[in-house]
Amino acid sequence: MKPTLSTLVQIQILVLHLLVVLSASQDFDFFYFVQQWPGSFCDRRQSCCYPTTGKPASDFGIHGLWPNYDDGSYPSNCDSGSSFDASAISDLIDRMQSDWPTLACPSSDGTKFWSHEWLKHGTCSESVLDEHSYFETALNLKKEVDLLQILQKAGIQPDDGLYSLDSISEAISNATGYAPGIECNVDASGNSQLYQIYLCVDNSGSKFIECSVFPNSQCDSKIEFPSF
Ligand SMILES: *[C@@H]1O[C@H](CO)[C@@H](O)[C@H](O)[C@H]1NC(C)=O
Repeated sequence: MKPTLSTLVQIQILVLHLLVVLSASQDFDFFYFVQQWPGSFCDRRQSCCYPTTGKPASDFGIHGLWPNYDDGSYPSNCDSGSSFDASAISDLIDRMQSDWPTLACPSSDGTKFWSHEWLKHGTCSESVLDEHSYFETALNLKKEVDLLQILQKAGIQPDDGLYSLDSISEAISNATGYAPGIECNVDASGNSQLYQIYLCVDNSGSKFIECSVFPNSQCDSKIEFPSF
């Protein structure tokens, strides 16, 4: 018997469903856990705004937990049907305000920053972490690796001094067992400075792993660690 057109259409629909299911269950390879130094966000040519809850601590703040592929590319905005529900993370709000502060202008309470992170990145790992788990996972990862303490123990302080990129990288590798990705930006006078530190996390969000690919670093060999 020859397959009818409608059978063919049904098979096509089945195959499409299968592809959607497969892509949803293995939609990325690992996470970048990215923390930013507020002093380096705030002394660029365009300035920053402290959150309405006040000046953040002189500490690294979470930028995001970003699903990534081993080839260096990344998925984004994976679920147009998803929205950010602030009430789903109301129990985490104190930790969010201290560990994941917004520095964008105009001043705000952080909701816009967290919503952006969830919609752009978090929705790409929805198959493993729902909204609450996503934010809680990032907060717990920050607690697990205290970057400022690690650097300070190696004599690297946010004192506007210059430090070798290698010494910063080595201090973090020594303390965590994993080589970090380090991204620089430039201050208003054009000096290369320590902006963001990337650590890699397995695609269930449960443990740090060796990075398979590093972000573009844009650092000089000696970089400034601005005070904040
Ligand atoms: C990292 O560890 C090595 C080997 O123990 C040591 O020689 C080096 O000074 C350490 N580097 C930093 C920056 O702490």
